[in-house]
Amino acid sequence: MADIGDIKAIIFDLDGVLLSTDKYHYIAWKELADELGIPFCEKNNEMFRGVSRMDCMEMLVSKSATVVLTNKEKIAYAEKKNARYRSLLEEITPEFVEPEVRKTLEKLRMRGYRLAVGSSSKNSKFILKKTHLTDCFDSIVDGNDISRSKPDPEVFLKAAIALKAEPFQCAVIEDAEAGLSAAMSGGMLPIAIGEAKNSPLAKISLNTFGDLTEIF
Ligand code: BG6
Ligand code: MG
Repeated sequence: MADIGDIKAIIFDLDGVLLSTDKYHYIAWKELADELGIPFCEKNNEMFRGVSRMDCMEMLVSKSATVVLTNKEKIAYAEKKNARYRSLLEEITPEFVEPEVRKTLEKLRMRGYRLAVGSSSKNSKFILKKTHLTDCFDSIVDGNDISRSKPDPEVFLKAAIALKAEPFQCAVIEDAEAGLSAAMSGGMLPIAIGEAKNSPLAKISLNTFGDLTEIF
């Protein structure tokens, strides 16, 4: 597995790491679950972190013994969830990003690290643009670029290629078990923050985003 001394590139998850859009995902899934009559709480939502929209839809339906949907219906409900999520995203501005996040990304870049976003979300580029974060990264790989979502390492392996780094030269910053697991199986250094902080899969855990400047 990757070691701190080898790291040349850092790959960041988006939702719940760079900014707290994870709370909007929860609101949108919760509203859909209520509409379908499927019990859903914040604890259930933890399993949705890092997982693609359609995989989340499958997981939601599988929680119910009575709700049976055709593929077409699942796609339509997932689109409905996304429309609600996009409406919640309307309110985000550059101020939605903690100043500590922006400062840390700048410092890491000045120290010579190559930076990427590695997210399962198909809304990544929209969010990064709206919050003026796009230019903080050398590459952005997201849900539109992959065919297998986390815990598969595809998104991180593609980001590593884009950053011209070997997997062992990459650290991954994640708030999701699925993301830490993807980093591990990709041969990268899994670093946890937020909800994943106490995960046994994390090689390092951050109390705050700014802690990264003490590690790298
Ligand atoms: C991940 C989130 O970043 O993106 C998941 O942690 C979400 O909760 C996934 O399901 C897909 O997001 P989107 O924006 O493409 O629906
Ligand atoms: Mg996340």
